[in-house]
Amino acid sequence: MKDLIIKIIKNALKKSGVNLKNEEIEKFLKVPPSPEMGDYAFSCFFLTEKFKEDPHEIALQIRKKIGNFPETDFEDIQTAGPYLNFFFNRKNLARKIVWEAITQKKDYGKLKIGQRRKILVEFSSPNIAKPFGIGHLRSTIIGNSIANIFEFVGYKTIRMNYLGDWGTQFGKVIFAYDKFGNQKKLEKGPVKYLLELYIKSNKKIYEEKAREWFKKLEDKDRKAVILWRAFRELSLEEFQKLYKTLGIKFDFYDGESNYNKEMKKVIFELEEKKLLTKSKNALIVDLEKYNLGVFLIQKTDGATLYGTRDLASAIFRYKKYKFDKMIYEVGQEQNFYFKQLFKILELMGYKWAKNCIHINHGLYLDKDGKRFATRKGKTVFMQDILDKTTSLTKKEIKKRPGRISKENLEECALKVAIAAIFYGDLKNNRKNNIVFDIKKFISFEGDTGPYLLYSYARASSILKKTKNTDKFEIIDLDEKEIELVKKLLEFKSVVLDAYKSLNPSVIANYSFQLCKIFNEFYHVCPVINSKQEAFRLALVEAFRQVLKNALGLLGIKTLERM
Ligand code: ARG
Repeated sequence: MKDLIIKIIKNALKKSGVNLKNEEIEKFLKVPPSPEMGDYAFSCFFLTEKFKEDPHEIALQIRKKIGNFPETDFEDIQTAGPYLNFFFNRKNLARKIVWEAITQKKDYGKLKIGQRRKILVEFSSPNIAKPFGIGHLRSTIIGNSIANIFEFVGYKTIRMNYLGDWGTQFGKVIFAYDKFGNQKKLEKGPVKYLLELYIKSNKKIYEEKAREWFKKLEDKDRKAVILWRAFRELSLEEFQKLYKTLGIKFDFYDGESNYNKEMKKVIFELEEKKLLTKSKNALIVDLEKYNLGVFLIQKTDGATLYGTRDLASAIFRYKKYKFDKMIYEVGQEQNFYFKQLFKILELMGYKWAKNCIHINHGLYLDKDGKRFATRKGKTVFMQDILDKTTSLTKKEIKKRPGRISKENLEECALKVAIAAIFYGDLKNNRKNNIVFDIKKFISFEGDTGPYLLYSYARASSILKKTKNTDKFEIIDLDEKEIELVKKLLEFKSVVLDAYKSLNPSVIANYSFQLCKIFNEFYHVCPVINSKQEAFRLALVEAFRQVLKNALGLLGIKTLERM
């Protein structure tokens, strides 16, 4: 509808000899504060320069140029002072939107802007050989949602997890396993056990030994490699279990370790392209000219490096996937690092470097504003958080009316817990630091994941006794009904906005508003046995579908009953 209005205004302006771009018109097209002023209002103030008239005159003139309008779409187009007010043909609009939502189902709101172009989204990318800490949760949640959004607007998305499977932490655990290791314990709970070993060895007195073992690993010492491989596999298995629980999928797993063998090639290439400088026996790329400091390529001792591996990996990814865009969803701490990385790729002559995007995010804080990732020096683990959240939601669910079987309770509590955590994150602008407050996240009231799931389940229970909602007639429309319809209409532009701003919070906030309006509607408009039953059921169904689509973009699964 917005597009249609823009078109109408554009044509009318053209007739007055004023040519404006769609975006320029869109800026002055707003939803007015109250419905008497129409469904959309166009403000003419900004045109005074061009028309050399006062805005009221301009509004009258544009209205005249519009002439007749399509009555199937609008009831009226009026002027009010400097404004042009557009009134939708509400019945037609309601019919159209509800019909679209209930027939297009999971496709409702999809766009085609991506045109099947390829986008590679790297996200999560935890460091393994230690449990999945909460530090990588934000990347997991946000990256997943970003990938969903790109898919929804028509991109072909490739989801990738780039594991931190190399580094000095492996020296530590290998050393500790060699010294105090116990195979049985390892097999029983590999990741927790590896952590135990890590803590044992993470001491000053063992530093030298750990370094030696890592050197052995880099030099492909047989024992070191065998242990490394076993640790990698065992931890990956556990990580995959967790991803499965969270409903997160990857198209492929890669890891830093895959690029050790590429180091020489990258160094050679940098050398050839005259980008390499020697600095106290280390090799660097000097980026001072670009205000980007220096980038370490190889250390004095010849050890491999995170950054060099990333260069090799980026080049590999392009060769393999020929992506149109590549996204790295990684915390803000690495802002500068990614600027350097992309600059070097550009200097190496890779045209696709400009299509690499670092999507960052702030930190989780606890209630005192301290970093949440570690508590009293200890890492906070995802599995523990999930267990705790699930047991809290279980209590909440039990408090509510309605009976639920034991298995259902387990499943339901887990889903609600995941929704609580995901939504608690995604409702915020990703760049902000956010307070990780489980008690708030799991509340069934207010701006929370459980509230959204609850609204969905409520709609489901209304629809439970009906089979088809596809035959309806609209006799009259209540203000709340039209409000809900308009919100459903907004979904497409919300998706577009989230995609353009690379910000899932736009969709999260929309979902909350949608549910609020739905609950208000349900409060004032009886559905079952009302005169308008057929239409209202269809409207409920449309709401349910749009909410499901929106939550799907956030990575949140709905529940039919709660
Ligand atoms: N594993 C890294 C870390 O935990 C994040 C990797 C980000 N991705 C990348 N291509 N550098 O800090």
